[in-house]
Amino acid sequence: MKAKLVDEAEGLREVLRRHEYLYYILDQPEVSDAEYDALMNRLRDLESQHPDLITPDSPTQRVGGKPRDGFVKVEHSAPMLSLDNALNEEELRAFDGRIRDALANEPYRYVAELKLDGLSMAAQYRNDRFVQAVTRGDGRVGEDVTENARTIRSLPLRTTSGLDHFEVRGETVMLRHAFERLNADREEQGLSRFANPRNAAAGSLRVLDPSITASRRLEYYAYYLLVNGRSHFPSHWESLEALVKMGIKVNSKRKICRNIDELLAFCREWESKRDDLPYEIDGVVVKVDAVAQQARLGYTARAPRWAIAYKYAARQAVTTVENIEVQVGRTGALTPVAHLAPVEVGGVTVSRATLHNEDEIARLGLQVGDSVVIERSGDVIPKVVRVHTQGSYRRRFQVPKQCPVCGGKVVREEGEAASRCINVNCPARLKESILHFAARSVMNIDGLGDVLVDQLVDRGLVRSVADIYDLTVEKLAELDRMGKKSAANVIRNIEKSKQNPLPRVIHALGIRFVGERTAGFLAEQFGELDRITSVTVDELQQAEEVGPKVAESIYQYFREPRNQDLMERLRSAGLQFEYKTRRRHAGPLSGLTFVLTGTLSIPREEVRQRIEVAGGKVSTAVSRRTNFVVAGEDAGSKLDKARELGIEVIDERKLLELLEKVSS
Ligand code: IVH
Repeated sequence: MKAKLVDEAEGLREVLRRHEYLYYILDQPEVSDAEYDALMNRLRDLESQHPDLITPDSPTQRVGGKPRDGFVKVEHSAPMLSLDNALNEEELRAFDGRIRDALANEPYRYVAELKLDGLSMAAQYRNDRFVQAVTRGDGRVGEDVTENARTIRSLPLRTTSGLDHFEVRGETVMLRHAFERLNADREEQGLSRFANPRNAAAGSLRVLDPSITASRRLEYYAYYLLVNGRSHFPSHWESLEALVKMGIKVNSKRKICRNIDELLAFCREWESKRDDLPYEIDGVVVKVDAVAQQARLGYTARAPRWAIAYKYAARQAVTTVENIEVQVGRTGALTPVAHLAPVEVGGVTVSRATLHNEDEIARLGLQVGDSVVIERSGDVIPKVVRVHTQGSYRRRFQVPKQCPVCGGKVVREEGEAASRCINVNCPARLKESILHFAARSVMNIDGLGDVLVDQLVDRGLVRSVADIYDLTVEKLAELDRMGKKSAANVIRNIEKSKQNPLPRVIHALGIRFVGERTAGFLAEQFGELDRITSVTVDELQQAEEVGPKVAESIYQYFREPRNQDLMERLRSAGLQFEYKTRRRHAGPLSGLTFVLTGTLSIPREEVRQRIEVAGGKVSTAVSRRTNFVVAGEDAGSKLDKARELGIEVIDERKLLELLEKVSS
């Protein structure tokens, strides 16, 4: 019996590790998140019933670990050096000249890699098991962040090198979308924002409670491999390839460059494309590829002579804040926006910058008339980094007491960073809601943009998001700058939007805290909108990444009569309320539909997942299409219905038998 459990646990670990590798390292998942979760839950169950089965490299051990009192200082096996910088193309050419001279004109080549803007960290592996992670610190001594690093999914707990000891060095980063989300959450909670993804990554890695690191979703990209304190391979490129083979993530945007022109081309290419990357970069790291040549080039006191960081120009500029105005968003939140004397930053003329909220303005100590440093990163709207010099005529900004759009009352609730217009009929809120609904990544209604939405709302043609499905070519054609042809186009796009799958519909509703990802998890978990609107706050939390706060927000949204009304209108318009393409596993229970009723001894959500992993479907209502009704204690009307329709009723034991058969 025990041996069987040991086998099952090890089998699950192997499968989970493979899925993690596919998902976090290769970005090519083969199973749905729900399926992965089901496997993970099974392993957690086994381990919690038999704690002696737990191994330190089990995928369940990523979260966990108790908060500690402080970090232990650890000396690096070999110093983590920094790099000299080349601040422009001339300096990079000069570096190449020095290399050519020092190598006395023998052939050489470079490896060019993106310079990710994060936090460097060294990870130790013994017998292919992750054992320790240490931050760079001052280069000689760093801090032991092992428990926190364990939660980084792109850092494998097990590798396949066959080496008894090696060390990986690389960069820990926070992806931009995670950074945006973290700041949005913090703002909602009345906490201060992180200034940039780098600070957020540092703040997330260097916290005493590993569960905080886990929730921050950091990524790790390796750029260096040390075996017994030395390079194990004849070239850096081969080291990187070896890391990839061992299952460790290495940035794929790297290149062997045979001369300075190829290097410059690589640097220029990524400078122009840097906004498209999911993380921030501040340049390109250039390394001489051959390890023997690296050894001949040697080191200065602080950096290798065989490598250099080509730094991109900071995309910052100094300009004056001429005014601060507020914009009203979809949730009624008032966002202060700085109007700037136009200035060029990294090839783009900037005349506005977001200030996020009043606290941010206070933190910056900003007043109208000040000159400020602004920065443009991946986002479209630049931000104010700090006050450069105070203006001689400065004016303090005050949040208006009335909404600048509808004149409605503005309130700031306790614990909130934002002041809000509380008029639910505020045209600004309605306009923003429609623009969100129609956005490309949401319902993708091409043609329903600013100009049209302004007119539709101002003329009273649209008073609720659902009204857009009642628009006709005739109604649209009467508007300014709208011919019959473009009107017909917009109507066709509105019509087409009805085919959008459920995750987009959920996202389109604009429920607070529910973005694209969460909408996807909700659709996966519940399969139909009607279930999401009817389940409890606790049940909502069964969906991935849905915590108490998000669950409460979703729950309250659907309790609001206006929103219930909206749901009914969207339903009659013909939007997709069911998730038809929800990825179902083909398995031994494929094609079978189960209904669960009464109290079961295992949490219902877990039973659901196990059925789904086996390919079955779980539905809430008994119908002729139901194959089995699983009846627990005190089963009620669903049991009566099953008997009435002559559907087979089984008990929990019978269900477990079916599932057992499946797993053996
Ligand atoms: S190599 C001797 N490669 O840049 C090797 N560093 O100023 C030294 N960085 O502290 C590092 N991406 O945090 C290297 N592909 C990359 C890098 C990289 C980012 C960071 C690293 C280091 C700093 C050097």
